[in-house]
Amino acid sequence: MLIRLPAPSSGFRLCAAKCLVASKLTMKHAFLVSLSALAAGALAQDTFEPSDFNVTEALVTAGVNVSDIPQLAALTRRSSPGACKIACSSLAIIYGAENVLSQGSSGYDTFNDAYWSSIQGEVEPYCVFKPSEASQVAVQVLISRLTQCPFAVKGGGHAAFAGGSNIDGGITVSLENLKQISLSSDKKIAAVGPGNRWIDVYQTLDPDEVTVVGGRVSTVGVSGLTLGGGISYLSSKYGWACDNVDSYQLVTASGIILDVSQKSYPDLYWALRGGGNNFGIVTKFNFNAYPQGKMWGGARLFSNESFPATLDAIYNFATKGSPADHDAAAIISFGYASGFGPLASMQLEYAQPIADAKVHEEFNALTPVQSTTDIHTHAELALMLNEGIAYGVRNTYWDVSFKVDRALFTFLIDTFYELLPNIIDAAGLLPTISIQAITEGQLKGFQKNGGNALGLDPAGGPYFVMNMGANWDNVADDARILKFHADVIDAVKAEAKKTGVDNDFIYMNYASQFQDPVASYGAANHQKLKSVSRKYDPQQVFQDLQPGYFKLDKGAPNPKWPSS
Ligand SMILES: Cc1cc2nc3c(=O)[nH]c(=O)nc-3n(C[C@H](O)[C@H](O)[C@H](O)COP(=O)(O)OP(=O)(O)OC[C@H]3O[C@@H](n4cnc5c(N)ncnc54)[C@H](O)[C@@H]3O)c2cc1C
Ligand SMILES: *[C@@H]1O[C@H](CO)[C@@H](O)[C@H](O)[C@H]1NC(C)=O
Ligand SMILES: *[C@@H]1O[C@H](CO)[C@@H](O)[C@H](O)[C@H]1NC(C)=O
Ligand SMILES: *[C@@H]1O[C@H](CO)[C@@H](O)[C@H](O)[C@H]1NC(C)=O
Repeated sequence: MLIRLPAPSSGFRLCAAKCLVASKLTMKHAFLVSLSALAAGALAQDTFEPSDFNVTEALVTAGVNVSDIPQLAALTRRSSPGACKIACSSLAIIYGAENVLSQGSSGYDTFNDAYWSSIQGEVEPYCVFKPSEASQVAVQVLISRLTQCPFAVKGGGHAAFAGGSNIDGGITVSLENLKQISLSSDKKIAAVGPGNRWIDVYQTLDPDEVTVVGGRVSTVGVSGLTLGGGISYLSSKYGWACDNVDSYQLVTASGIILDVSQKSYPDLYWALRGGGNNFGIVTKFNFNAYPQGKMWGGARLFSNESFPATLDAIYNFATKGSPADHDAAAIISFGYASGFGPLASMQLEYAQPIADAKVHEEFNALTPVQSTTDIHTHAELALMLNEGIAYGVRNTYWDVSFKVDRALFTFLIDTFYELLPNIIDAAGLLPTISIQAITEGQLKGFQKNGGNALGLDPAGGPYFVMNMGANWDNVADDARILKFHADVIDAVKAEAKKTGVDNDFIYMNYASQFQDPVASYGAANHQKLKSVSRKYDPQQVFQDLQPGYFKLDKGAPNPKWPSS
C-alpha cells in the first residue's frame, strides 16, 4: 500500500537573514503538482523505480520546486565540490535553519557529543538535519540524490565505530524529532517513531500493561537495534525485535513512503528483518504489543572461583532450561575490574514477577558477590541495566557465533584472560566477553511471518553469540585494543573449527568494522538481499550515497583485519 506524500502543510519557512541562500523565495506555488500523481505513477510501473526516474520531478511532487532554490537549479546530476553545502543550505531554506545544524554551532557540538561512542562523535558531518515528518526524510533523500551529497542516519547513535551513524562531510540525518509512540485501541500494535529510545517506549506502554520486544538497556535506540535484529529478554518467547514488527513505514530511494508489511511487500519486509540500513529510512515501526505486567530480573556479579559453575549453568540453560520455559532469559559476561580482578556479570530475567522460577534454580544456587535481581516493570529493569555503562568514551564491539558447546565456553574465557595482559594497562580500559544463547525459542520466533534474513537454521541450534566489547580513554591504545579483539576471535574460531562447533552468523548489532555480517547470513540470503535492494533501489542510493555501516556487497567497512 502506498502512502501519499503530503506537502508540507504550512508552507516553507522562509529564510532568515543568516540563511546561506538568498531569501527572496516565493514558494507558495511549489505544491501545485498533484500529489496523487506520484503514487499512481509508481503503482503503474512494472519496476519499482523507472529507469528514467527524475529526481527533480520527484522533488516537485514532494512539494519542493527546485527552480526556486538557485543553487539546486544550477546543479547538474553529478556531484560538485559544493554538493553538501548546497544540500544543507537547501534543507535550511525549506525546513528552517533551526532544523539544520552547521559546523561551529553549539547545537552541532552537543549533537556530536551525544553519540554513545566518542569514536563516532569525532566524525564531522557538513550538517545535521533533523526532520520531523517522513515527508521531510523523503525530501532529504531526493536532495542528496540531486546534489550527490552523501548521508548517514542516526537513530539512538549506539553504533560503535566511525561512520556507523555519522558521516564526515555529509548530511547526518538525526531522527530525534520522530518521537511518536501510540498504542492501538485493542493494545495490539504500538506505533513507534525511530527517534525513540527503548526507555521511552517501555515507560509509555507500562501503564497499559503491555510491552514490545526491544532492547534491554534504556538508552539504546529503537531503530538501529530493530533493523539489525534485536535481542530482548522476551526473545525466547517471541523472537528478536525484528520478528515482532507488524509493519514498517519506509522512505525509499525514490522518496516514496511505503507501508511495508508481510502482505504489502513481502520481499522488502523480509529484508528489513536483519538487513540494517540498506533498504531505506524507517520512519515508523508498528510493533506487535504483548501483555506484560511486572517481571523479575537484574544482574549478579561473581568472582572467578564461580566461573566454571556459572558456565555450567548457562550451558544447561541454553540446552535444557530455556526450551522448557520461554519466560526466562540469561546472559553472562566476563570482564576485569581494576582493584578486583576477573569478574563475571550474569543478567537474569523472567517475564513474570517470580523470583524463584524453576528454570533459574541452578543460577540461584550460586553465591554472587553482588546482586540486583528483583521484581520490576520493564522500564525499571531497562534503567537498571543502564547503570554503570559509560557514554562518550572510546568503544569497540565485535561478535561471532557458534553452536552451544560447554568446552568452547571454557576455551573462550581462558583465551580472553590469557591475552588480556596485552592491553590491561590501557587507561580507562573496561573489556568484556559475553555468551548469549540463541535459544530454541528465539529460533522459532525467527520463522514467524515468512522468516527473517539472518539465515540461522533452527535445526542446527541452539547457537550462541560470543560478543566482545571494550571502552578505554586514549587514541594511542586503539590499535592494540582492536588487535586484542581480533586475536581472541581468531583463536576461538580456530578452536571451534577444530571441534566442529563453528557457525558463520555474525550479529550485525555487535559487529566491528572489520566484519561482514550481511555475507554471514549465507549465500542464498545474501543474494536475495541484493536483489531486493536492486528492485527497490535500482540506483543503489542506500549503498553508495549512504556508505556507512554494513553494506550489502562491499565487504567489511574496514577490510584490514587487525593482526600481527
Ligand atoms: C549499551 C548498549 C546496550 C545494548 N543492548 C542491546 C540489547 O539488549 N540487544 C541487542 O540486540 N543489541 C543491543 N545493543 C546493540 C545495539 O542493538 C546496536 O548498538 C544498535 O545499532 C543500536 O541502535 P541505535 O539506533 O542506538 O544506533 P545507531 O548508531 O543510530 O544506528 C545503527 C545503524 O542503524 C541505522 N539506522 C538507525 N535508524 C535507522 C532508521 N530509522 N532507518 C534506517 N537505518 C537506521 C544507522 O544508520 C546505523 O547504521 C546494545 C548496544 C549498547 C551500546
Ligand atoms: C517552479 O518554479 C518556477 C519558477 O518560480 C515556476 O516557473 C514553475 O511553474 C514552478 N513549477 C511548479 C511545478 O510549481
Ligand atoms: C528532470 O525534469 C526536469 C523538469 O521537468 C528537467 O528540466 C530535467 O532535464 C530532467 N532531468 C533529467 C536528468 O532528465
Ligand atoms: C582468581 O583471580 C585471582 C587474581 O585476581 C587469582 O590470584 C586466582 O588464582 C584466580 N582464581 C581462580 C580459581 O582462577
